[in-house]
Amino acid sequence: MKVLSVASEIFPLIKTGGLADVAGALPAALNVHGVEMTSFVPGYPAVLNALEKPQELHHFENLSGAPAVLRRAKAKGLDVIVLDAPHLFNRPGNPYLGPDGRDWPDNARRFAVFAEVAAETARGTYGNYKADLLHGHDWQAALASCYLRYRGGPKSLLTIHNIAFQGVFAPEIFPTLNLPHQAYALDGVEYYGNVSFLKGGLASATALSTVSPTYAQEICTANYGMGLEGLLQQRRGVLSGIVNGIDDAVWNPEKDSALVQSYSSKSIDKRRANKTELEKRFALHPGDGIIHGVVSRLTWQKGLDIFASLLDSLVESGGRVAVVGTGEPGIEQAFRAAATRHKGRVGLVTAYDEQLSHLVQGGADTMLVPSRFEPCGLTQLYGLRYGCVPLVARVGGLADTVIDANDAALGANVATGIQFVPVDGLTLWGALLRADNLYKQPKVWRMIQERGMQADVSWRRSAAAYHELYKNMIAGDAK
Ligand code: ADP
Ligand code: GLC
Repeated sequence: MKVLSVASEIFPLIKTGGLADVAGALPAALNVHGVEMTSFVPGYPAVLNALEKPQELHHFENLSGAPAVLRRAKAKGLDVIVLDAPHLFNRPGNPYLGPDGRDWPDNARRFAVFAEVAAETARGTYGNYKADLLHGHDWQAALASCYLRYRGGPKSLLTIHNIAFQGVFAPEIFPTLNLPHQAYALDGVEYYGNVSFLKGGLASATALSTVSPTYAQEICTANYGMGLEGLLQQRRGVLSGIVNGIDDAVWNPEKDSALVQSYSSKSIDKRRANKTELEKRFALHPGDGIIHGVVSRLTWQKGLDIFASLLDSLVESGGRVAVVGTGEPGIEQAFRAAATRHKGRVGLVTAYDEQLSHLVQGGADTMLVPSRFEPCGLTQLYGLRYGCVPLVARVGGLADTVIDANDAALGANVATGIQFVPVDGLTLWGALLRADNLYKQPKVWRMIQERGMQADVSWRRSAAAYHELYKNMIAGDAK
């Protein structure tokens, strides 16, 4: 089975968030099932620099205004087809934003062309590659399902990693999309008078999925569907929720060069050396008390404004915090101010730092994810694997992957973390107190860490679920 996976970012070539981790891990996870997954990626500089033995699949004399080349290659262990279109993708840094921190003004064109060439690649238009199925991810790839719907070709699956990002543009762009005029309609890309790439994909793909069962239910409701709940309710029969796994070659505390000390569930005491290193790196006063870790985009979605508002109380009660993240200026500023007020207690690194994120997982006591909504979430999964106890809001994938340390779960020795709901300052504060209380009972805390480290957060089950879905789709039964 040949599957073309279409994503705008992929680890280890280019990453801004969890989508890259998932797109990067799926090929190996599905290979176990005999799926040959090729990843279709934009030719950003970081991607082009990583190509090994590229072969030209097609040369475009004029692809939306300039020449371009479609290349197939290996890159850091991945089998990739890259759209090398310098006028669209030869821009350093973040794949979506210019140096001013705003979306590139031509993002509609960039990702429409990307999706169109992906669809044509899957249909076998170029060279000797042809796919049995196209698996697109998020709005940047969503239009590929529209092109396949109107032009024919393999079936397509569209996975929603975050419904908050929809790729909505002014209607004037429609004529540039090379879609038939009937696509500008209620069951196509038209969305309240605009063009929505995600909506077009959701209406057109053979099947839909999202990254956890709970989020699959949530997005069919007005509270979480962000305007697309009606369409999703209609397509409910072909929508599934498959929780993400983690790449345990990249995330393994027994072999992680970003840690000063490796360890396993049988030698959790050794984490102490990483905690000491964490204290140094975040300029925290040394001590035995709890350290809460955050590795995140600092955004409203992640609920970190709520956490920032609790920092004075947290410090007063003896807590320490290590935050690595970047994001909305207001939230960054709130953390910066708290770090200045509470030197040695609130440590902040406002950067994107992959290595440091591993050290936080390997050294902090909790991994804090107080999200208002969370399609799946990966940092709590890394936390489980690293004995960094997840303290999470009970929403989306966080609800599906963490078992709250309530009395029943502790009694049965199945607890793996701490959950709270609804997502507000009061409940988060309650959860922080509960964490501190459990932390002060070393045997109980150890039990929670061990259970978490032993939980199966690998791709094993989810890869099997995707494989099953692919097979059913190809056989004609979309679900
Ligand atoms: P999302 O994709 O919504 O941001 P996820 O939890 O699915 O959330 O994935 C986030 C990914 O990005 C994880 O791999 C996490 O470790 C990483 N990450 C987020 N912020 C940073 C940062 N400042 N430095 C390093 N890695 C980060
Ligand atoms: C999105 C979501 C996150 C999810 C990731 C990978 O970025 O916000 O919850 O884990 O995609 O699926």
